[in-house]
Amino acid sequence: MLKAVILIGGPQKGTRFRPLSFEVPKPLFPVAGVPMLQHHIEACAKVPNMKEILLVGFYQPNEELTRFICSAQQEFKILIRYLQEFAALGTGGGIYHFRDQILSGGPEAFFIMNADVCSEFPLPEMLNFQKEHGEPSSFVIMGTTANRKQSMNYGCIVENQQTNEVLHYVEKPSTFVSDIINCGIYLFTPEIFQHIGAVFQKNQQDIDEQTNGNGWHRAEAIRLEQDIFTALAGQGKLYVYKTPAFWSQIKSAGSAIYASRLYLNQYHKTHPERLLGPNVSIGTGVTIGAGVRVRESVILHGATLQDHSCVLNCIVGWDSTIGKWARVEGTPSDPNPNDPYAKIDSETLFRDGKLTPSITILGCNVTIPSEVIILNSIVLPHKDLNRSFKNQIIL
Ligand code: GDD
Ligand code: GTP
Repeated sequence: MLKAVILIGGPQKGTRFRPLSFEVPKPLFPVAGVPMLQHHIEACAKVPNMKEILLVGFYQPNEELTRFICSAQQEFKILIRYLQEFAALGTGGGIYHFRDQILSGGPEAFFIMNADVCSEFPLPEMLNFQKEHGEPSSFVIMGTTANRKQSMNYGCIVENQQTNEVLHYVEKPSTFVSDIINCGIYLFTPEIFQHIGAVFQKNQQDIDEQTNGNGWHRAEAIRLEQDIFTALAGQGKLYVYKTPAFWSQIKSAGSAIYASRLYLNQYHKTHPERLLGPNVSIGTGVTIGAGVRVRESVILHGATLQDHSCVLNCIVGWDSTIGKWARVEGTPSDPNPNDPYAKIDSETLFRDGKLTPSITILGCNVTIPSEVIILNSIVLPHKDLNRSFKNQIIL
């Protein structure tokens, strides 16, 4: 049997997602109309023999997460549990801490996925690839091609082109290493815990050798990328499955709109009933007046778009109101359409001391009056604006 683990991080993460992540944990933010995580879960539930999905993170158990897990279990008819780390243990530390839970019932393999990616999730393809490559207990990383410059924002993989073995792995290198990048989706066998365990032992020894005995936290903090993959590369154990399908990271709110578009394109094939408009997702209880125009946007539940308002490249927060004839507009941060390998830049909010033009975000319960223009701005929750704004963070 198989299992899957989704790394959902915790409250200190997702800072580029503010102010939206104040209201809802980032992994539950809606992408193409459903919580970001639901796309992972849906893909896992389709894999034959998948018995359980474990969400590993350091959020306090909270109502939204509990409610989501409950409804996803029912919808996808699969066991889902949340396992909370006592602190941020890193991408390898969390799964090591919960290894007994992951291995209970004896899975022969399990997937590990970053929550903050969108993908077609070619999980059956990864299973086939694993059978065909290396020994049966080899580990598989899903990879994709990036352009030279952007590749350095990701984990970079040098492969043996004949065998697809990972020969070198460098996490976010400062100079070019390879244009094959790590997608944050892995297929492991239980043997991976021997490798993580070895790093844990070594961390503990290093800490014992230092005189301060207060380092037990740090021995448990392990990064899959730097601590495990870099060491496994070139050992005949680690292989890269390069996906031809879509993939993107979701770090900023702008990248959530791009990710929505990628999933909505896929819905043409998989869920035509879920399709709405030109990359528009509308939550429950939204009121839309006559003559309203919406494009490339996410309207969260309870919002009101009054008559003839125009919303382009925006995320409109829960219960916000946009007045008549108002225009709320942002600038898309799409990857360069002329470069087939371009990825979305989710880098900095500011460049040269100025807010970089990006999508406009209204936090929850914001009111925009009639006949104003809000352009490339971020409005914090509960603000009642009284005029037009351009390129500003409105606190
Ligand atoms: N449970 C848990 N505990 N999850 C964590 C922790 C932790 O301490 N730290 C990070 N995560 C989760 C995040 O929520 C996210 O889903 C994932 O692990 C990776 O997050 P980061 O550590 O911020 O890494 P990154 O996104 O900058 O880069 C990773 O993903 C890229 C692909 O999107 C790396 O794996 C790169 O190599 C890769 O290219
Ligand atoms: P191009 O950039 O050349 O495509 O011009 P455009 O104005 O057609 O494109 P844009 O994406 O800015 O707007 C798309 C459509 O939205 C327009 O054709 C109008 O129908 C509508 N629109 C634009 N601005 C407003 C506005 O302020 N209010 C309303 N109600 N609709 C608008």
